[in-house]
Amino acid sequence: MNVISHSADGFRNLKNTHIEAHPSMNIIFGENAQGKTNIIESIWLFTGCYSFRTHKNNELVCENSDEARAKLRFFASEREQTAEMKIGKTKDIILNGVACESPRAMMGKFRAVVFSPSTLSVIKGSPGERRKLVDVALSLIKPNYAVIMSRYLRTLNQRNALIKKINEKQYDLNILDTWDDALASLGASIIRYRLEYIEDLGKKSSEIYSGISSSKESFAVRYSFGKTTEIDGNTDIKQILINELHSTRESDLKKLYTSAGPHSDDLIVTLNGRDARIYGSQGQQRSCALSLKLGEASVMGGLTGEEPVVLLDDVMSELDEGRQKFILNYLDSWQVFITCCDPSTLMRSENGKVFEVTGGTVSER
Ligand SMILES: Nc1ncnc2c1ncn2[C@@H]1O[C@H](COP(=O)(O)OP(=O)(O)O)[C@@H](O)[C@H]1O
Ligand SMILES: [Mg+2]
Repeated sequence: MNVISHSADGFRNLKNTHIEAHPSMNIIFGENAQGKTNIIESIWLFTGCYSFRTHKNNELVCENSDEARAKLRFFASEREQTAEMKIGKTKDIILNGVACESPRAMMGKFRAVVFSPSTLSVIKGSPGERRKLVDVALSLIKPNYAVIMSRYLRTLNQRNALIKKINEKQYDLNILDTWDDALASLGASIIRYRLEYIEDLGKKSSEIYSGISSSKESFAVRYSFGKTTEIDGNTDIKQILINELHSTRESDLKKLYTSAGPHSDDLIVTLNGRDARIYGSQGQQRSCALSLKLGEASVMGGLTGEEPVVLLDDVMSELDEGRQKFILNYLDSWQVFITCCDPSTLMRSENGKVFEVTGGTVSER
């Protein structure tokens, strides 16, 4: 998968930008607050996922405009394709001349992996951030996952609304039986998808971790699912979920929300068996986050048969030369868009194009 060209206008501070992309390395440099991240963000939005910075459309539109526009020509599924995006009160995308029902229809059509400074905090952040890491990747790899996820969340909201009504004595507790069954079925599918993906992700990311940190520490990642620790192919996940939903009913009624299920699971990253969230140094946590992201790109390529586009925002600044070198070499298999303030460190890679961003405009160097 490759970006052929990208243009944007009225997207945050971007003014009529145009990039004819290089098939491998695209370096986007400029001083602070010029629009580098805005370019990465507007490319990312064509994946059909939310921005990694905001869920609000109005923040994406230039303060002085009513709408933002962006256009992406890309090569995917063995053909050249064009997607046009218009953001106003809503986000509308036209793919190859046909209007998409919603931006989510783009999921799986254009695939990318993004690494931004906020990704660095994924290890020490909340379980929600780690679940998002997995959910976004899975939605792009298997768009059906996003469909099941949204059904699950809808059912979860309905159960939560019922809990409030039961609490107000409008219904009896037993009314939850049918909801628990539906929620457990959907939840079990989500957990199966996640387990399979995390197994692949763990293998790739641990290889990458050793490369980045040239360390002898062993990196591992596992899915932490409710109170259950051991899961294998024979585990009846649905039944476990039903049991958990039952045993937490009374406390749910006090908290007024559903506590058990994949919406509260977590991803545990360990170094030598110790939780990196608690025991990892800042440097180790960074290397873990980076390994997980590059692992994601690698797994995505393997499972879909098409390498994703890799978007790296401000990733190099905090890494020593050895780590930078490893990453630049590792990036060889993908088309990369990488931002930085000082392009000299990246100039080592000769095979690519360099773009300078100044005040929302882009010029090729
Ligand atoms: N909705 C918006 N309208 C106009 N300008 C915006 C909007 N959102 C962000 N900006 C501006 O975009 C610039 C930041 O762009 P960004 O891509 O994050 O910079 P950087 O080059 O440091 O990555 C800032 O000057 C900010 O004020
Ligand atoms: Mg930036």
